[in-house]
Parts: sequence; structure tokens; C-alpha cells
Amino acid sequence: MAGVAKLQRRSREGTRDPIARDIAPPLLAWYDSERRDLPWRMAPGERADPYRVWLSEIMLQQTTVKTVIPYYENFLRLWPSIKALAAADLDEVLTAWAGLGYYSRARNLHACARSIVAEHGGRFPSTETALATLPGIGPYTAAAIAAIAFGERATPVDGNVERVVARLFAVREPLPLSKPALRSLAATLTPLTRAGDFAQAMMDLGATICTPRSPSCLMCPLNTECTARALGIEARLPARTPKGERPNRFGIAFIALREDGAVLLRKRPETGLLGGMMEVPSTDWVDMLPAQSDALRIVPVRADWWKVPSTVRHVFTHFELELVVYRAVVAHDSELTFWADGQRCKWVPRRELDKHALPSVMRKVIAHGLREM
Ligand code: ADE
Repeated sequence: MAGVAKLQRRSREGTRDPIARDIAPPLLAWYDSERRDLPWRMAPGERADPYRVWLSEIMLQQTTVKTVIPYYENFLRLWPSIKALAAADLDEVLTAWAGLGYYSRARNLHACARSIVAEHGGRFPSTETALATLPGIGPYTAAAIAAIAFGERATPVDGNVERVVARLFAVREPLPLSKPALRSLAATLTPLTRAGDFAQAMMDLGATICTPRSPSCLMCPLNTECTARALGIEARLPARTPKGERPNRFGIAFIALREDGAVLLRKRPETGLLGGMMEVPSTDWVDMLPAQSDALRIVPVRADWWKVPSTVRHVFTHFELELVVYRAVVAHDSELTFWADGQRCKWVPRRELDKHALPSVMRKVIAHGLREM
């Protein structure tokens, strides 16, 4: 987290210390009078129903508030509780979802409802950490539900919140590189009480006042707190890495190490990038890091998977790849999961890895994952 350390140092050297900033009182006062009236929101002081919060947050991923409202209301009419949704057929759920897009969200919604009923007695887990283990609940959604439905001091950070924070602290480092720093700074702002209202206030501020192109600073409850405004650079933040540079892709790679020292490798499809070469089984390489809960459902072998600290980065001609690596030691007679597609996978003794067509990215992954083993 060198970026944050630098920001903290810079802020201490400056005239004010943004880390110590307490924006909650003016922001919550603004939220109490100006908040958007949305069907999943409770009146101030009322406890939100986790089912409704979860449903709205899943629908709001990649979709606007305006589009979501009629779908949200229809879902609640069809399935007023988590138990009702869990009892529904997946096909019915997909039909009600039609038009919202990104259908994996609907599949995960249904899987999550069933998991909560089957494994949690029909009650949502109440912590950010536990929520993040459920299907379709990534870090943002886990933090949003924990804060809004359970009052945990959690900090959901989406694009709107990133923009507000980048301006408040005048973070000049471009996105997406600045994401971890923005997340850490955002977490310093969340108050101990009313964390859910605070999270939604940040979302509303980003959506209605601290907008991307011409922010309405005169109406902003934080205008005297905002370093970017003080410097006159608010409309230029957050900076973004110019288009044309390589986009980022993310994935998760699984290193299964058998007790006899063999490593599980898989042959890539003959066509496409690194066609026909070998790799450790991995998720697809996609625009956003797959949620840990999703990744752990497609492991190649059932085992106790351990996340190796830090990640592996590799630059390809057209994109930059960041891989999170999981590792497990597995019994000699472990069976591959259906997902691992037994035909393309094979166990290779560790000392013979060099004899296989492993591209450099996979050599890096294996060296990273098996370090100190
Ligand atoms: N976007 C994502 N979650 C939201 C919420 N709870 N309120 C408003 N906008 C949102």
C-alpha cells in the first residue's frame, strides 16, 4: 500500500491532514434532508431488511437506479422473501430478470438464495467477511449489505465513491492504479455509527452532485472539505490512464500440488492466445477480478485452497494481466472436479515442469505459488 503511505505522508506535509477529516456530520445532515427516495431505502432510524438490500445491490451492479426500480418491485411481488426466491425455479428467475442483462447475476442470485436457506437457516450472515463467501457477493456488495442492513462499519466503494474520494483528497494518481489507495482512504471516512446511511450518502453525492463532468460544488455539503476544489482541479479528477494504453485483465490461477510433488497442468485450447500451451488451471481472464466466492466454486480439485499473498502481473501485447494465485496440497487419490475437464489436465512431476510448454506468465505463476515449498 505504498500509494496510501505516500498520500498520508503528503497530507501530513500539507496544511491539513485529510486522513483526520470528519466528513460524516455534514454528509449525514445533507443525506437526511436530500437523499433520493428509493424503494429499498428505509426511513431514518428504521432497520433495513437484508433481503431487500441484497436484491437491490445485486440489481444495481452495472445497472442504473432508474432501470432497476421496476425489476426490484416485480421481484418483491413475485418473491417477497429469501425463502420464496430459493423455492423458485431458476428459469422463472431468469425470465423475471430478462432485460437487466449480465445473467450470471440472476444465476448467482438464485444460488445465493438457496445457499442462505440451505446453509444459513434462511438468515443472511451479518458480517462483511461472511457475506463475501456467498455466490455473487463480491467485496463491494458485501460491504454495502453489511453497512446498510447490519450497521457494520464497512465501506462499499464503487465508481461514484472513487470519484468523491479522489476529489476530497485530490488524488492525482490515475485510475485504475489508484483504486487500492482510494479504497483505503474511503475506509478512513466511514463513521462508527450510521455506516449504512453514510455509504448511501456517498453514493447519492456521487450520483447527483459530485458528478463526472461538471460537479455542482456550490450545492455540495463537503465543499469546504474538498482539496481538489481548493486547488481548482475537481473537474479533472479522478484522472484515468489514457485510452490506448493496455487494458487490465484479471484472473485466478490454481496451483494444485499433489503429496508426491506433482503439479496439475492443463492444456490451453489450440486456438487463441497461447494456443496449445500448458498452464495451471485458471479462470478466464476478464475485466474485473472474479469474486473469491465465485472462484472457489470452480476449483480443479476439492481441497483446502490458500490464497498466496500478492499477485502475479504479466504484460501481453494487448493487455496487462494480474493473476491472484491459490494453492492447495492435495491427496494422491484426489479426483478432479467436473470443471477441471479431466481430459485436458494432467499431473506433472515438479522437476519435469521445464519439459512442458509453459509460457512465461505460467512460469511466473508457478514460481510465485510454490515459493518456499
Ligand atoms: N448504487 C448501488 N447501491 C446503491 C444504493 N444502495 N443506493 C443508491 N445507489 C446505489
